[in-house]
Amino acid sequence: GDVHFYDFVLREKNFTGLCSTKGMLVVNDSFPGPEIKVHKGDTVYVNVHNQGYYGVTIHWHGVKQPKNSWFDGPEYITQCPIQPGTNFTYEVIFSDEEGTLWWHAHSDWTRASVHGAIVILPAIGSTYSFPKVDGEETIVLAAWYKGNLKEEVDEALEAGSDLPHSDAYTINGEPGDFCACSKETTYHWTVDYNKTYLLRIINAVMNAELFFAVAQHNLTVVGMDGRYVKPLATSYIMISPGQTMDVLITTNQSLGRYYMAARQYSSEDASVTAFDHVNATAILQYESNYSFPSSPSFPTTLPFYLDYIAALNFTNRIRSLASYEYPVNVPLNITTKMYVTVSMNTIFCRTCSGGIDDEILGTSLNNISWVNPSTDVLQAYYRNISGIYTTDFPDQPPSYYNFTGDEFPDSIELTVQGTKVKVLNYNEAVEIVFQGTNVLTGSVNHPMHMHGYSFYVVGTGFGNFNNEIDPKHYNLVDPPEVTTFGVPKNGWVAIRFVANNPGVWFWHCHLDRHMSWGMDTVFIVKNGDTIETSIRKPPAYMPSCKVPLKSYGY
Ligand code: C2O
Ligand code: CU
Repeated sequence: GDVHFYDFVLREKNFTGLCSTKGMLVVNDSFPGPEIKVHKGDTVYVNVHNQGYYGVTIHWHGVKQPKNSWFDGPEYITQCPIQPGTNFTYEVIFSDEEGTLWWHAHSDWTRASVHGAIVILPAIGSTYSFPKVDGEETIVLAAWYKGNLKEEVDEALEAGSDLPHSDAYTINGEPGDFCACSKETTYHWTVDYNKTYLLRIINAVMNAELFFAVAQHNLTVVGMDGRYVKPLATSYIMISPGQTMDVLITTNQSLGRYYMAARQYSSEDASVTAFDHVNATAILQYESNYSFPSSPSFPTTLPFYLDYIAALNFTNRIRSLASYEYPVNVPLNITTKMYVTVSMNTIFCRTCSGGIDDEILGTSLNNISWVNPSTDVLQAYYRNISGIYTTDFPDQPPSYYNFTGDEFPDSIELTVQGTKVKVLNYNEAVEIVFQGTNVLTGSVNHPMHMHGYSFYVVGTGFGNFNNEIDPKHYNLVDPPEVTTFGVPKNGWVAIRFVANNPGVWFWHCHLDRHMSWGMDTVFIVKNGDTIETSIRKPPAYMPSCKVPLKSYGY
């Protein structure tokens, strides 16, 4: 493959949205940030210059980075933050990914404004899995916050109180016509009549799943998370934070203007109104000489806020291509089985000022609430530094009960904070059943994301996973192969993968609220017997883990 070089300069810039202006940390002065464009198999070097006020890291979401954990990015997992006034060059190795992925900051909530698309074209000389398109368009869905997110998040975490809620959703940086003061700047996409376009859609929203539709135009999903899927015809999509979808759209409607709209989907059954119900819109506009109708038409197929049936009807239809050219390789003889509960809880805080008895809002995996170490896990692992993490992340929850019922045993109070990782041998065939729980009402679905890997979603269902019955219905023929997948709050998801990428890999819920509260852990995948199956040598320079005494001013 080819080699490409990018410079990412991070600095605060003023942006105006929802009638107010604020300084926001962005890359190369743009929101969303610059697009990285490569062919399958290429390598990219991105020199990140931090001219902001805080330490930051960048993650290449969905890029497997074979044996290359050093440049994966999550702070305190594979590196320490790039301090203000310094730079760090990432090496991003593309292997088998093809389609759309994205990059984002992986330091507290910085990713709200520090993110952008990664477009991976087929290797030179090969083609898409679908017929050639006439044009392509990237759609980045994000969240807009009026306040100073960094300060608000720090404060909330310190106090153990609720984390900020967004004030609007955006399409390519703009909230659109239904938000105050933003009509002038609504994003426009101009198309020609009777062409087929590839839409590359990214959900970069911090905390919400979204429905997305285009008025009067059908969509055909052909890819997801950097993988092709069986063409899926639909009038809307549901996309979780972290997910990417490649969608074909044919411009065969009467000349005019049409809304592309995103609306929050919530799996919450309570009448919780803290979230944002306003639709984000952009305009698809046919190029030609005609007089516009006074206002664009709105997609009537966009499901309602709480429509979980619509969400499921879409998500459950996604399938791998499973063709000769794009085979599936689901492991059949499982050697490591894990059953992991995914919960919101109240937990006893180890680090809060009120001491050990402080009860705070938290999240957990198998009743362990992740705490970042002060030296990254990768360095501690590679250099045998003890006292940074422990290897006792449990394969099962501490007790079994009706996880999705209404009554809970006292043991749910046993959630503890810790830096517990799971160690896997090289080439282990892994199955994980993620079990959603109802421990706190008002819970939502959890888009679980794994670094360093893609995985097959072999089964999903409501209620408690049944080990006798459910595995009999697994789809081992054409399960979707993804890097992020929603665990229903009142159901389960079973995934499989082969641990063939040695290194240190974060996995977590891609709702930042839940990630900040501890819904995270780490896989350490050991080396195989050869150099080819071992983690690469570390680069000569990694950002230091010693916290500077004061931050630099600019
Ligand atoms: Cu989008 Cu830990 O990542
Ligand atoms: Cu979650």
